[in-house]
Amino acid sequence: MPKDQVTALLDRIAAAHNLQELDSVRVALLGKQGEITSKLKSLGAMDADTRTAEAPKIHALREAVTNAIADRKSALEAADLKRKLATETIDLSLPAPESISGTVHPVSQVMDELAEIFADLGFSVAEGPEIEDQWHNFTALNMGESHPARAMMDTFYLEPRAPDEEPRVLRTHTSPVQIRAMKEHGAPVRIIAPGRVYRSDSDATHTPMFHQVEGLVIDKHITLGHLKWTLETFLKAFFERDDVVLRMRPSYFPFTEPSAEVDVGWSIENGRRAIGGAEGWMEVLGSGMVHPVVIENYGLDPDEWQGFAFGCGIDRLAMLKYGMDDLRAFFDGDIRWLKHYGFKALDVPTLSGGVGA
Ligand code: DAH
Repeated sequence: MPKDQVTALLDRIAAAHNLQELDSVRVALLGKQGEITSKLKSLGAMDADTRTAEAPKIHALREAVTNAIADRKSALEAADLKRKLATETIDLSLPAPESISGTVHPVSQVMDELAEIFADLGFSVAEGPEIEDQWHNFTALNMGESHPARAMMDTFYLEPRAPDEEPRVLRTHTSPVQIRAMKEHGAPVRIIAPGRVYRSDSDATHTPMFHQVEGLVIDKHITLGHLKWTLETFLKAFFERDDVVLRMRPSYFPFTEPSAEVDVGWSIENGRRAIGGAEGWMEVLGSGMVHPVVIENYGLDPDEWQGFAFGCGIDRLAMLKYGMDDLRAFFDGDIRWLKHYGFKALDVPTLSGGVGA
């Protein structure tokens, strides 16, 4: 095909002003009855020599046209997007109508409630990375390399980025934020650290990703009494009842000594289990006095500084307070579940108004 005819075809493609025009050109050239398609069809009727000479040219033409159409298509799409971005704006300050407004997920709601309760006690909110190194997740928390707790945590390990890199982990708990916050701010400190944690576990009460909140107080002369009072104050405010009863059971965590698991009492009200009273017990969190080895790993002298820490499942708190029974529903993204259990975006928890929704 003469050069100027090829150029004419490419010009037709370049002249398409929008995606519809471009599609008509595509059909006219490459469609079933298209110009190039008929050239391809004509190969069959040629004698062998002519075909050998013509076939590569026609195929090259088809390729050039196909590429030119693809290029023009991306150029038109890019221009379209640019125009949309320049002309379409959304006024985010307008209130959304009730029918389309979203709801706050119970986990976010409980995180807000925790921040509100602990802010009133003088705590600030700290954060740490979800991809963590083994030193922060384990070693600094007094879980040496061969510590059995490492195996018990069903850890997700990441592929190392270099042959000599120790594999990083998806943090198995929020406790590593203790170390990061102490290194960053030094003592004294009062923080909570809410966030996502990961373990390779899945059934009605376990999901591979879930939420915890870590609490940490480091100061001089901190005792187990401060821990008990803080947890009692927190749980009474959270469940919005004065008759919340705590039971501390001796336990073991590598990063605290002594360690205690904390149960809250429940009783049957109107045929349903409710927090308050002491007809039965439900475990809600782990806690203890921070181990001297961990205080050293903060870079502090354990003879001078002490403190307490606790760790608590946020999803579990939400289930207990708002009456959900399957943890997996938290992560299904089912809008009907959210409409049922979700919270209005403007209902911000306040202590004066009662933290609950
Ligand atoms: N990190 C623990 C876990 O995930 C929870 C925990 C227990 C945190 C005791 C603490 C603590 O700070 O003192 O099971």
